[in-house]
Amino acid sequence: MYVGYILLVILVGTQAYIHAASSDTVLAYRPHPTLAFEMRVEEGFHPPIYPEEDPYLADPVLPSLLKRLLPASILSQVQADLTRLGKDLITDVRPLAPLIQPATLIQYDQFGRRVDQLRTSEGWRKLEEMATREGYVAIGHRRDYGQFSRVYQFAKAMTMTGDYHVIMCPFGMTDGAARIIELFGTEKMKKEVYPRLISSDPGFAYLSGQWMTEKTGGSDVSQTETTATRVADRSDDLGPAYELNGFKWFSSAAEGNVTVALARTGSVSDGSRGLSLFLIPLRLPAFPTPLSNGIRLHRLKNKIGTWGVPTAEISLDTTRGWLIGPLNEGIKTIAPVLNLTRVHAAVHCIGSLQRCLSIARSYSMVRHVKSQTTLLQDLPLHVANLASITLLYRALTCMTFSAISLLGRSELRIATDSEEVRLRLMTPMIKAYAAHKTPFAIEEAMAALGGLGYMEEVGIGRLLRDCLVEKIWEGTINVLSLDLMRAAREDAIEKFVEWASSIVKSASKIESVQYHVASLDEFIRRLSSMFESGRTVDLAPRLLMMIFGSITAGVCLLEHAVWSHNSAEATVFIDLESFKRWMMEGEIQKAVHDFEDVMKDPMGKSSMDKAFVYGITERSKL
Ligand SMILES: Cc1cc2nc3c(=O)[nH]c(=O)nc-3n(C[C@H](O)[C@H](O)[C@H](O)COP(=O)(O)OP(=O)(O)OC[C@H]3O[C@@H](n4cnc5c(N)ncnc54)[C@H](O)[C@@H]3O)c2cc1C
Ligand SMILES: *[C@@H]1O[C@H](CO)[C@@H](O)[C@H](O)[C@H]1NC(C)=O
Ligand SMILES: *[C@@H]1O[C@H](CO)[C@@H](O)[C@H](O)[C@H]1NC(C)=O
Repeated sequence: MYVGYILLVILVGTQAYIHAASSDTVLAYRPHPTLAFEMRVEEGFHPPIYPEEDPYLADPVLPSLLKRLLPASILSQVQADLTRLGKDLITDVRPLAPLIQPATLIQYDQFGRRVDQLRTSEGWRKLEEMATREGYVAIGHRRDYGQFSRVYQFAKAMTMTGDYHVIMCPFGMTDGAARIIELFGTEKMKKEVYPRLISSDPGFAYLSGQWMTEKTGGSDVSQTETTATRVADRSDDLGPAYELNGFKWFSSAAEGNVTVALARTGSVSDGSRGLSLFLIPLRLPAFPTPLSNGIRLHRLKNKIGTWGVPTAEISLDTTRGWLIGPLNEGIKTIAPVLNLTRVHAAVHCIGSLQRCLSIARSYSMVRHVKSQTTLLQDLPLHVANLASITLLYRALTCMTFSAISLLGRSELRIATDSEEVRLRLMTPMIKAYAAHKTPFAIEEAMAALGGLGYMEEVGIGRLLRDCLVEKIWEGTINVLSLDLMRAAREDAIEKFVEWASSIVKSASKIESVQYHVASLDEFIRRLSSMFESGRTVDLAPRLLMMIFGSITAGVCLLEHAVWSHNSAEATVFIDLESFKRWMMEGEIQKAVHDFEDVMKDPMGKSSMDKAFVYGITERSKL
């Protein structure tokens, strides 16, 4: 009887299995007998469509920052342009997104001839044309607004970021190339190339790349393999002529007309002191398209983001180039490009965050939850997330624009010594700090839309992918923190502290923030000694960069709040609250704590790190 029962179970079980395994039975669709109708996607509840916010006017802090940083007469013109731009972004630029695709490379034609045709997408070409017309590079160089031209240029670039798909890459490099030609170029370069690099006429303008990275390394270019040898000048040369041979491993703006490239003119043992900088024509009338001048596109990089930007592996074979700046001082000559692209990179981070925040804010105004009774904007738990993203956005934006206004002064040679030092310190920091902080905040903005946020069409995914590159190009975070240490030499930090202390003093009459001002002041006072004690410690640079970044953000938020208070701005309570929250959220405390923790026993930490990462045997070797 018992055995019989077991047999029955097996029998029934097997039958059920066979039944289920028959795909007909499982997959065939049968209408449910009791449902009166079938629900189609067009029926029933519809997720709300969120409104498009004005990219400039709805920005939480940029309009008020510009009001502080620009004189009234310039402000009104800039505001008018940015308001017009905001509308154009929504109607003309945003719809181009589906047309922006990775570039393709056709290396050979049907006759087996090498052609190296680079085809960028229709959307990308349109974006480049529009960015040129907007004066993406031109505004900063024409200097119609004197020292304020950079603030205007970057405010515009930042507002464009969300819809311009990393146009900052080729345009930022073009900005940098223009600057070095202005500083170090030959007369012919200044006459024939500079006006084109800074042009806002798409038919006349040139784009420039920047070729530093080789297979031997991007952080450290001392092992550069590309060589340059002097050849006889021709009448069409724009400077001392050289022939370059080698391979460049990451070359964005491969669609450009010119590039600036490092190549070896000294011996290998000279390391980076044997490198010089060259201007190379890619697609100039004299070096006709498709690519010539001995340049071959070996491959396009298959990148996880920055899809519009063509980044190529490029070989140079007796490629003609013209020396820019002194021989064997290529690293020094190219520094202004890096300084500028780092600012562009920081602006790219905050502009991306701005767009994601705007989407999350819009959505919270239309999406109901809790049995459709409550808008997200009325849920404190949800709004708290948006508030902390907003705080970070304000902090990064105040800090970045503080550096940008110094840049404008520096270029006009009206910056004081102390301002020059501050700009030097802030340039690597704003890029590294923004690159470090932004992706996490973008992820939070994405999650604020729930499943919708994960949908490609919304655009947050793309912005996240794109801004991840900021942790790598133009210097990784660690490499930039080493650069910060170089900038922090001599009395640089003391000069920064002097400025920061003056901001703190200027807040002495604002009762409501005194507690937090005193706490900021204490951290500022310790800055010099922390840099001093970390100077020879391997682990210190990144920790110091975080301290310097978080303190600078606090100072810049305070500076803005004091202005807002003194000029009785309508936003004053938000501006004061931003500063207070930055102090309360404990960014600075945490950074200082991390540093102190490591400084107790940095060698011990390093050896434990090794065991942690590579296993117990590594520790015993130490
Ligand atoms: C999409 C994209 C586009 C790019 N476009 C260009 C371009 O147009 N032109 C161009 O020249 N380059 C370009 N690059 C290259 C980029 O600048 C380099 O990838 C970057 O500088 C890092 O160099 P690397 O790849 O050789 O990495 P490495 O230098 O090998 O770095 C690897 C790791 O080592 C760390 N590291 C290196 N040195 C140190 C150190 N001393 N201390 C501590 N840590 C260290 C780095 O932080 C990093 O984490 C591009 C890169 C990408 C991803
Ligand atoms: C610059 O290069 C592009 C190719 O990317 C080309 O279409 C354009 O005509 C060139 N511009 C000039 C002024 O030569
Ligand atoms: C630009 O970079 C170089 C080297 O990193 C530095 O010496 C120079 O002072 C920088 N300029 C600014 C304004 O940061």
